[in-house]
Amino acid sequence: MDYLCDNSERMKITYFGHSCVEVITGGKKLLFDPFISQNPLAKSVNITSFNPDFILLSHGHGDHVQDAVQIAKSSESTFISCFELVSWVEEKGLKGHPMNIGGKWKFDFGTVKLVQAVHSSKLPDGQYGGPEAGFVIWNEEDCFYFAGDTALTMDMQLIPMICPPLQVALLPIGDNFTMGYEDAVVAADFIQCETVIGIHYDTFGYITIDKQAARKAFESVGKELILLDIGQTLTI
Ligand code: NI
Ligand code: MN
Repeated sequence: MDYLCDNSERMKITYFGHSCVEVITGGKKLLFDPFISQNPLAKSVNITSFNPDFILLSHGHGDHVQDAVQIAKSSESTFISCFELVSWVEEKGLKGHPMNIGGKWKFDFGTVKLVQAVHSSKLPDGQYGGPEAGFVIWNEEDCFYFAGDTALTMDMQLIPMICPPLQVALLPIGDNFTMGYEDAVVAADFIQCETVIGIHYDTFGYITIDKQAARKAFESVGKELILLDIGQTLTI
């Protein structure tokens, strides 16, 4: 891994706070779980600057879908999520590709597989958001896992059995609403991934973590936890 190289063919992951990341892979921009305008830590991020090809939503909670509709309207992006969430955006005149847990689909940028997450999913307007999900995404160059909001679950052991080897995983580490970093260390073992990018931490009081302790917990098992600054890009 190289933090400085700017080879455009390599996967780029940019962090926008909380669980919002943009991943460039297979020649497309994928935006995950946009929650920016109401994130006090992401005041430097301008949501009108986003122009994703696809918006991927892990579940319906406000801290994952808050800015999704506005960004989709200005960018003409296509949603990828579970059936219920895609139905919700289609009701607003937006387009999407509906999926459900366990299914995979080959898009032009690569294959997306929806995997199990253990959480809950209600939309800000009270509608049921369908099952909460994680995403494993791969193409000839790259393979990564975006876990969404989830507990540590034994089902994570299935991922290395049914998907290509992961280069990197984005795992929640903030505890209280999701697994904490201690469980994320176990998750990294289950998914056989050496490099983890932490998400879903520090945004609110309930999920403030000791970042030094979190990094050490991964180091102690020979793995790396990367905590990106908001706006920082990692090239893998
Ligand atoms: Ni949630
Ligand atoms: Mn959340």
